[in-house]
Amino acid sequence: MQKTTKPLNNFKITSVILAVIIIISSCASGQLGKNNSGEYENGMVVSAHPEASHVGVEILKKGGNAVDAAVAVQFALAVVYPNAGNIGGGGFMVYRSASGEINTLDFREKAASGASRDMYLDSAGNPIVDKSLYGHLASGVPGSVDGMVEAHKKYGKLSWAEVVQPAIDLAANGFKITKRQAAELNGLHRNLMDFNPNGTAFVNLESPWKESDLLVQKELANTLKLIQEKGRAGFYEGAVADSVVAEMQRGKGLITKEDLKNYHSAWRKPITGMYRGYKIITMPPTSSGGIALIQLLQSVEPYPLKKWGFNSDSTVQLIVEAERRVYADRATHLGDPDFYAVPQVGLLKAEYNKSRMANFNWNAATPSSSVLAGEIKGSEHEETTHFSIVDHDENAVSITTTLNGSYGSLVAVKGAGFLLNNEMDDFSVKPGAPNMYGLVGGEANAIAPNKRMLSSMTPSIVEKDGKLFMVVGTPGGSTIITSVFQTIINVIDFDMSMQKAVAAKKFHHQWLPDEVYLEKDAMDSLSIEKLKAKGYKILIRGPIGRVDAILRTKWGTYQGGADPRGDDVAVGY
Ligand code: GLY
Repeated sequence: MQKTTKPLNNFKITSVILAVIIIISSCASGQLGKNNSGEYENGMVVSAHPEASHVGVEILKKGGNAVDAAVAVQFALAVVYPNAGNIGGGGFMVYRSASGEINTLDFREKAASGASRDMYLDSAGNPIVDKSLYGHLASGVPGSVDGMVEAHKKYGKLSWAEVVQPAIDLAANGFKITKRQAAELNGLHRNLMDFNPNGTAFVNLESPWKESDLLVQKELANTLKLIQEKGRAGFYEGAVADSVVAEMQRGKGLITKEDLKNYHSAWRKPITGMYRGYKIITMPPTSSGGIALIQLLQSVEPYPLKKWGFNSDSTVQLIVEAERRVYADRATHLGDPDFYAVPQVGLLKAEYNKSRMANFNWNAATPSSSVLAGEIKGSEHEETTHFSIVDHDENAVSITTTLNGSYGSLVAVKGAGFLLNNEMDDFSVKPGAPNMYGLVGGEANAIAPNKRMLSSMTPSIVEKDGKLFMVVGTPGGSTIITSVFQTIINVIDFDMSMQKAVAAKKFHHQWLPDEVYLEKDAMDSLSIEKLKAKGYKILIRGPIGRVDAILRTKWGTYQGGADPRGDDVAVGY
């Protein structure tokens, strides 16, 4: 795609001079494409695993565009990051082309045709918690492979075979696991054995996994090869589909051959909104994330966050009250738009979100019990993964993809070598009953055959003055929305670099339970005491989010933000 050429104004001339200095200094340091601030000029991939980030950049260097790289990274993560990277799950893509075209792809899983509203309730009508979380019945029909086929068909430049090949190589030849992965696999040893009595590559029968051990996945390599040769038919039909159905029969799951064959991802119109002059491009339902993100930004925009400062008591109090109201809306109004009329227009009105904040009282916390959804006229279990990509032409891709829980349902399809999701838990199993993230829901997100379960994933792209500004997203279950929100305001309101904004300590509130979660050292103790005195229940918890993001600087270079909470790596060129 061509960049438009416009006359240079003074600022641009200064920028060009600075860019020339940057290029000269980076050539002098022998790192073509990288300047002395660790910024890159040609493109960048930020993902949860070093191998996957490198795969993406190699595709860019070969002349692939951001979508080619995204497809390669999605498949690579299915090999090297099996706790969330997947072909047995689903996700969302937000796309912005160099020329400003925007689009989103919903490749979220669907409930099987045999699914029913009360399928996870006992005879007394109470949720059987583990039933939607572990084993064969917890899985929705996977969407990732169809999503990648569709994305590549519409926007890809390299051949399909070229973008799938790196994942095949990683699966067939093996890759060295990180220390974190060795610990996770050892921690799950017993569960993986129980759910996969016929064996799986993730179980090491000889000795516990150690850092740098080679994880070879022959069955997965064969599956990827079939996908490479036959496209979607290589996964949704033939030998792989047979293996999925055999697995379902073994574990009394619901997914049938017809369910697989009938699965299709959906292109959807992006949600857009403005915040302090920046345009936010984000994911519509089936994600709740995009609507909730814009609602949060609209709720806080009238207030001087910059003056109050990063994570000051006033900033945190305001944001917590906004989050309380937005998550109350989420619980009532959001679900699969193909099944439920989501009142999107009303929820995205700035006046609506301003009016929701009208009853907020600076002197005391608003109890969540007194906050209902507005009336609209008109840690380990947070495993999802996000990657951000920008190519040489400034096409950008923001993908969040998931199996839901870490290693999904823990069932690896025998003969096909991939893990199945436990995404059914993202439905509202019973009105008012919390899911594993403590989120509640009702009619909008009730289980129905072939329906998509509501998500919080919030892959997003930010524009400034018609140019790309940021590509951002994160895993984290219910905390996804608030982590993306905080990363955006960390840059826009608190002038942080991309890496600093990603690493900055985060906090979270979600209406119910009526508790504020803080990462350790997210606020100073005096500010915490001030909030407690106003009635906020504050709990310190483990890491929140694992944001992977890219910022385009005013000089046109790319800053990566790779979350230090994981093994995440930004690779540019
Ligand atoms: N499974 C997490 C989400 O989609 O929000």
